[in-house]
Amino acid sequence: MREKVLVTGGCGYIGTLLVKQLIKNYEVTVFDTQWFGNYLEKNTNLKIVIGDIRNDLEKLDFSKFKFVIHLANIPNDPGVELDQVLSWEVNALSSKHLIEKAISGGVEKFIFASSGSVYGIKEEEEVTEDLDLVPISIYNKTKMISERVFLSYKDEIDLFIIRPATVCGWSPRMRLDISVNMLTYQALTKKRINVYGGNQTRPNININDMVNVYLYLIKNKIEPGIYNAGFENMKIIDLANYIKKEIDTEIVIRESNDPRSYRQSSKKLLKTGFKPKFTVKDAILDLKEKHKKKMLNDHDSYYTVNWMKKTLLKSKN
Ligand SMILES: NC(=O)c1ccc[n+]([C@@H]2O[C@H](COP(=O)([O-])OP(=O)(O)OC[C@H]3O[C@@H](n4cnc5c(N)ncnc54)[C@H](O)[C@@H]3O)[C@@H](O)[C@H]2O)c1
Repeated sequence: MREKVLVTGGCGYIGTLLVKQLIKNYEVTVFDTQWFGNYLEKNTNLKIVIGDIRNDLEKLDFSKFKFVIHLANIPNDPGVELDQVLSWEVNALSSKHLIEKAISGGVEKFIFASSGSVYGIKEEEEVTEDLDLVPISIYNKTKMISERVFLSYKDEIDLFIIRPATVCGWSPRMRLDISVNMLTYQALTKKRINVYGGNQTRPNININDMVNVYLYLIKNKIEPGIYNAGFENMKIIDLANYIKKEIDTEIVIRESNDPRSYRQSSKKLLKTGFKPKFTVKDAILDLKEKHKKKMLNDHDSYYTVNWMKKTLLKSKN
């Protein structure tokens, strides 16, 4: 009998690739509103339940699941700011109901996708898990509060809080509103990259390593706790030059009003034995290849904010 995994937000950018891997060895239930569509192919090991973590959790029988991977959130700063009540309900308030259901159902491991941006701007070279959180945006705050809700249950379940860097690379459910993907797509289609500022440092993780982190956590006996997951801290200008090496493009530097600089150290995760296998360069080359094969195109739903305005929040505009 295969072990059963619940993936909330499994139809999203990361979820779609994660579920594709999980179904090879587990029986997977995806729970998702499908706000950005559904790109998952039918499979005997996959059950998709359309529902909202705010009020449809009774559609799920938690006694069946051994693992929960919780990805269903509004996933970026401007998206969260569009409707703050909705964002707090989805990103923070639902957390309590979800983990209580998981605990009473007997789930063994609960993994939450927080964000590396919870640290805020840090002077320290090594941004490790024990540093204070000084979240800047409301998105960061919803993640921090949600972490605290989950942490208050840490004695009742094996809890893993993952703080991922910005994810990059191709997924069938694409996001073009995240830095590497956006800049690479600009280079491929406009032959021009617009860089705002450029000196800001941001941590990055290839989407295939992101998927592997979640697989690694459910497969292995790892000490529960908080783990950063980001393996390449890069200045945006270096990133643009990196892309220029692979794709013929001009770089235009514009003034920026966004000074946020983040970096991350993932030594704690690496010490457990996790080995990243993919790089930012791999993500750029894969995006280039997918574009050549016409598997990377543009769609409004690839931009969280525009799509939410157009669909979910249409009546409010
Ligand atoms: N992509 C990144 O760079 C990144 C970095 C750090 C953390 N994260 C976190 O990882 C998770 C997944 O991110 P992603 O990039 O795949 O985003 P995404 O928007 O592509 O996926 C989120 C999925 O959750 C679903 N969802 C949203 N609200 C829901 C609700 N109330 N009930 C049920 N389903 C709901 C959406 O329909 C979507 O399919 C998020 O929690 C995000 O904050 C992402």
